[in-house]
Amino acid sequence: MNISDSEIVASIMKDAYLTQTTDMKEADVIFMNTCSIREHAEQRVRKRLSELRSLKKKKPGLLVGVLGCMAERLKDQLLLEEKVVDIIAGPDSYRDLPKLLDIAGEGQKAINVILSADETYADINPVRTGSNCLSAFISIMRGCENFCAYCVVPYTRGKERSRVPETILNEAKNLFKNGYREITLLGQNVNSYKWKSDNAEMDFPDLMKSIASIDSRLRVRFATSHPKDLSDKLLMTIAELPNICRSIHLPVQSGSTKILKLMNRKYSRESYMERIEAIRKYIPECSISTDIICGFSSETDEDHNDTLSLMEWAKFDYAFMFKYSERPDTLAAKKYKDNVAEEIKSQRLNDIIALQQKLSLESNKSDIGKTFEVLIEGESHKSKDFLSGRNSQNKVIIFPRKNFKAGDYVDVKVLRCTPATLIGEDV
Ligand code: 5AD
Ligand code: SF4
Repeated sequence: MNISDSEIVASIMKDAYLTQTTDMKEADVIFMNTCSIREHAEQRVRKRLSELRSLKKKKPGLLVGVLGCMAERLKDQLLLEEKVVDIIAGPDSYRDLPKLLDIAGEGQKAINVILSADETYADINPVRTGSNCLSAFISIMRGCENFCAYCVVPYTRGKERSRVPETILNEAKNLFKNGYREITLLGQNVNSYKWKSDNAEMDFPDLMKSIASIDSRLRVRFATSHPKDLSDKLLMTIAELPNICRSIHLPVQSGSTKILKLMNRKYSRESYMERIEAIRKYIPECSISTDIICGFSSETDEDHNDTLSLMEWAKFDYAFMFKYSERPDTLAAKKYKDNVAEEIKSQRLNDIIALQQKLSLESNKSDIGKTFEVLIEGESHKSKDFLSGRNSQNKVIIFPRKNFKAGDYVDVKVLRCTPATLIGEDV
């Protein structure tokens, strides 16, 4: 999401006649796009800001801006705490950046942290900064109103709003025309995408269908789905269209119904399992990944074991795993105590990581002997003689280079694997 937002900012800056540099020393303006999801993310930003102090001493006119969630969360407090910062811009105020730059250029501190009910940057054509020219993100909605008890996002990114479908479709068509072969539709909760006009309505499955229909060579991915909103209609739409990737990211957070209730996730262990069964029924070849938080308020050994047993049952192919980090002003910070000791959080995280490594390896081993269509992304990191790409399930596959090139689709038979990679040969 932040990569996608930075691409929007780059576009707004380009229109304001600023060019990009990859060399920080050369820059007249440095923007840092920030995340507040865990304390650690904020600490890293603070560290980077302190590194900018010496740069600013050497170059007094240098302007430093903090963008995104941390700007929104801390507002002018950040200006007081971090003297190096000149500009603070929340996630909905990027159109205002040229004006904020003018104010800061005159020596004043500049800030805009107003959240909007309708800003989606729909008309902005993102500059694909960090892209491999094959895969791109398209933001289809902004904000979140789910208010999971641990989460800062509803406060930093504001109300949920969906982007006009025509602008999404046009962006996807243009990307395909320019050689892109994979797009990922982004939102905090893509399943609740909804666009209504006077005479028409479009939901997420309809939107995916229209994008997948642009060309069968265009792969479509999406992130993230909330389990409470993952509909059968969506699963049937994926099953129907082979270029919608067989890969669903479905954050579970915990395997304990008690903890899920405290987290305000609005589903139980059983109803999550029912959704996994539905995925397996409609799309048997689908990979499933998840997010897990351990050590949430009042989590006992029994709750932790519920998470481990659910992981075993679901056989997740991949997981992002975190220790609970209490965020100021969230529901959990107001209502509950962060009462699981740090050592216990660490131990539980280790258990979860070890189990996931085992599950990922088992999942990869079960692919040996199978053939997958791979979209080639480029050279393998480890060897010039190998190319690397992904299958529809989003697994990385490497195979001998021969005469193939990035952007080609090739059928690869899996011969071996590591926990993170499949190794094969074209067939
Ligand atoms: N502490 C730890 N992890 C968190 N996440 C969100 N908020 C927190 C928090 N306070 C995790 C969730 C979410 C992912 C993006 O980050 O697992 O799905
Ligand atoms: Fe945060 Fe929950 Fe919204 Fe995801 S769905 S962004 S975890 S509040």
